[in-house]
Amino acid sequence: MSKFYVVGGNKLNGEIKIDSAKNSLLPILASCILTEDEVVLEEVPKYSDVLAMIEIIKHLGGKVEWQDDNLVINCKFLHRNDVTNELASPVRSSIFTLGPILARLKQAKVSYPGGCDIGLRPIDLHLSAVRTMGGKVVEKNGYIYANGENISANNIILSFSSVGATENIMMLASLTKGETRIINPAKEPEIVDLQNFINKCGGSIKGAGSNEIIINGVKKLHGCEYKTIPDRIEAGTFMIATAMCGGKVLLKGGIKEHNEELIAKLEKSTCKIEANGDNIIVEARKRPNSFGEIETAVYPGFPTDLQAQMMALASISNGYSLILENLFEGRFKHAGELLKMGCDIRFKNCVCIIKGKEKIYGPDVVSTDLRGGASLVLAGLVSEGYTTIDKIELIDRGYYKLEDKLSNLRASIKRIDE
Ligand code: EPZ
Repeated sequence: MSKFYVVGGNKLNGEIKIDSAKNSLLPILASCILTEDEVVLEEVPKYSDVLAMIEIIKHLGGKVEWQDDNLVINCKFLHRNDVTNELASPVRSSIFTLGPILARLKQAKVSYPGGCDIGLRPIDLHLSAVRTMGGKVVEKNGYIYANGENISANNIILSFSSVGATENIMMLASLTKGETRIINPAKEPEIVDLQNFINKCGGSIKGAGSNEIIINGVKKLHGCEYKTIPDRIEAGTFMIATAMCGGKVLLKGGIKEHNEELIAKLEKSTCKIEANGDNIIVEARKRPNSFGEIETAVYPGFPTDLQAQMMALASISNGYSLILENLFEGRFKHAGELLKMGCDIRFKNCVCIIKGKEKIYGPDVVSTDLRGGASLVLAGLVSEGYTTIDKIELIDRGYYKLEDKLSNLRASIKRIDE
């Protein structure tokens, strides 16, 4: 088990490169199952969620090897169609293999996914979409047994703009003859990235990022070389960290348009943020003022994946802030750890009320999930004294070498392997 040891009080100054988007890489890795040709993914960080998806692809019979920072995947010789509980339970993205396995092999046996403990996270929208396309789906003993012999194109109306369900349908429909329409799809930049990847492999998808995605199935997909968009949640995390610590940071590769909601809130609470070519520069000179309130929503609304980090910012901002989490009913667990650091956080029904404090302090805290853990790191950066953060393997799921990047910005943080 590893811990972070953080000493608070340093400003952040310097530049870091934003890594490839975790939530693009995971569905794109699943998409490699759709083709018998070689795919090269460029500049892939070793997020532990990526490593988990690699193990699933290898289990199915795919070949995966690292060439420096690039990942070479070849799913020509798949010899299994099952994803065991042991492989599926660590990550939510294991459910993204359902569509591609069905499209390629017609039969799938996939265990329920795992992932961050932030709510129930059902998969009913994934399964109802497969059924709408003519798939036979039976849930038994913790497994999803799916038969795709009679899969055909159809129109699918999503009652909720689920990211994962949208991606599963895109992948399944990309090799299903005819035109499939997804109405009310997720519109995240990672959905557009997946469309671009599948189209680069010879697919025919359009409308990603809009209210309707149209997929015309093709017979085969070929391989390609691909680099995903930068990780907007990593970029957002570093923008919030700078707002909290003060200083000036250049985020190489950051795309301002992917974080409009966050930037509007940060500029309101005394941050200067500008785009300069392919970079974002964020500067904070004094204690932040409250950003007011945030309500998480599907893209382009405020991202739920930055909610925990904003709670850390609110905890040391001048004034009261409100946070309403609309996507995941269990995504406030980090508040309990922030309270141990002296933060003033209360709940009224599902609204979180934070009274900003001049000083918080660092006892020993424990990561509750990926983004909750990141919020504790941010709080540690501004705490009196030092903070130890346990269970940082949860943070490694979606941040690669976080301590190195923060150290390069002059934060005082180190990883202690126990
Ligand atoms: C993706 O999860 C992301 N993960 C999450 O990021 C992100 O928080 C989430 O989208 C929302 O943006 C990956 O891309 C790997 P959803 P996903 O399906 O696909 C309900 C991170 O920190 N729902 O859009 O699981 C669900 O309960 C992670 O990087 C159903 O009811 O999200 C939730 O309330 C955490 N039935 C809401 O939709 C379903 O079948 C959003 O879920 C599916 C979802």
